[in-house]
Amino acid sequence: MSENHKTADPCVMVIFGATGDLTKRKLFPALYNLAKQDFLPHGFAIIGVGRQEMTSEEFRASMIANLREFVSKPNDKIINWFEERTYYTGGDFDDDKKLFGDLRALIGDVTTAHQIPDNYFFYLATPPSLFANVTQKVVKNGLGKEENGNWRRFIYEKPFGHDLESAEKLNASLLKLVKEKQIYRIDHYLGKETVQNILVFRFGNSIFEPIWNRNFIDHVQITVAEKLGVELRGGYYDSAGALRDMIPNHILQLVTLTAMEPPVSFEADSVRDEQAKILQAIQPYSPEGVLQCAVRGQYGAGKVDDKKVDGYRGEPNVAAFSNTETFAALKLAIDNWRWADVPFYIRTGKRMPARHSSIVIHFKKAPFMLFRETGVERLRTNRIVIHIQPDEGITLHFGAKIPGPIVNMGAVDMDFNYLDHFGEQVSTGYERLLYDCMIGDATLFQRADMVEASWRIVEPVLDVWKALPARDFPNYAAGSWGPNESDQLLERDGRSWKNLT
Ligand code: BG6
Repeated sequence: MSENHKTADPCVMVIFGATGDLTKRKLFPALYNLAKQDFLPHGFAIIGVGRQEMTSEEFRASMIANLREFVSKPNDKIINWFEERTYYTGGDFDDDKKLFGDLRALIGDVTTAHQIPDNYFFYLATPPSLFANVTQKVVKNGLGKEENGNWRRFIYEKPFGHDLESAEKLNASLLKLVKEKQIYRIDHYLGKETVQNILVFRFGNSIFEPIWNRNFIDHVQITVAEKLGVELRGGYYDSAGALRDMIPNHILQLVTLTAMEPPVSFEADSVRDEQAKILQAIQPYSPEGVLQCAVRGQYGAGKVDDKKVDGYRGEPNVAAFSNTETFAALKLAIDNWRWADVPFYIRTGKRMPARHSSIVIHFKKAPFMLFRETGVERLRTNRIVIHIQPDEGITLHFGAKIPGPIVNMGAVDMDFNYLDHFGEQVSTGYERLLYDCMIGDATLFQRADMVEASWRIVEPVLDVWKALPARDFPNYAAGSWGPNESDQLLERDGRSWKNLT
């Protein structure tokens, strides 16, 4: 975020699911970081809402303890500032009179006490099954309508639906209650600095865009690899799987930012229109296409960082014979002038050998081999690697002459590392997204049509995988780069994954 920033509008933030992990680990620390950098308005208050009955004092005490645990170098002055403006109300989410009546009264008291105009945003850090219900009750209690120049916004955490039909239904129910411009569907990948930098890298420089197309690029690889297993989320994950959990949201966002045309402006809808066009241009799979272009895997027991770990089926809350995939790889074709015949290979998996997310742009080979003696097969192609995490940065790989009396070529790297250049930036990834919601900038949030287009892309894969349960699970060892079929997906095209560690 820039130094010359605009402070967010005075407002009240209401968090549903305020006693959960997301609030404690991400939302409060992100608000703290925003306050520290002076991005929050003086007229600001937070109301936590949860099922648990608890007083505002009790909620504040736990919020302070969490801030002390999760922010770096906690500052008493900022913590006191939050203490003065944090409230809580608890009860049954189904009870619109009691809980939502109490919430309405509390919002009234808080806005008067802190002299805040009637700008509110509701953060639904709840299970998705409650999104429509909670929104309906907020609206029914007169808290959702924008009037007299004041705004009301709703942030929804992922997952947004579990397939195309449920996402369409959810969008339809929400759009009956509030307007699209009031809805902020969050994808925390868009809060990551390097992800936002893709647009700056591509459209803020003049040297990359002329070669960013099928004439120069051979293919693109996107990997989101995690070392962790499913930890304590087996219950959710076993009914979701790697594909639903990561691809229609995080990874397709990375695809759209990498592939989109330059927008006419950085207005939310100009950027999102271009992203949506990419989602529409991704060719839908036929059932045969799914068999050729989609790979699934599930980890068995193995070793990660030299430590023995259990297989997926041995994790808590996972069915003993679960057929849920913990790895998914797809080959996508984007049917437009820029990308025709340039495959995008994407993959994600749990229990991989490294935590690493990157976008690798592989350029075509030099057209003519001048340095024959060096052995053509030893010459690598040029690559630009956008490292999303953990070490954020960009690397350009190219060939250089190895010093000596004969011409011999070696592969070298030119590296830009965020940390070396800009120093450590303390961030949870939620700062920018919360701030953007408070200033009404929806550029980094998904629109209804984008969510639906993303589900439309993966739907045929979900259908085929459901109809033909995997027979070979577990098919990769924890600590490996996924099943052999994932390597074969690229080998068939004469290519191979770049496994970065
Ligand atoms: C979440 C998924 O959306 O993203 C998790 O539900 C996954 O399964 C997480 O672990 C990855 O996020 P990050 O920021 O750690 O790459």
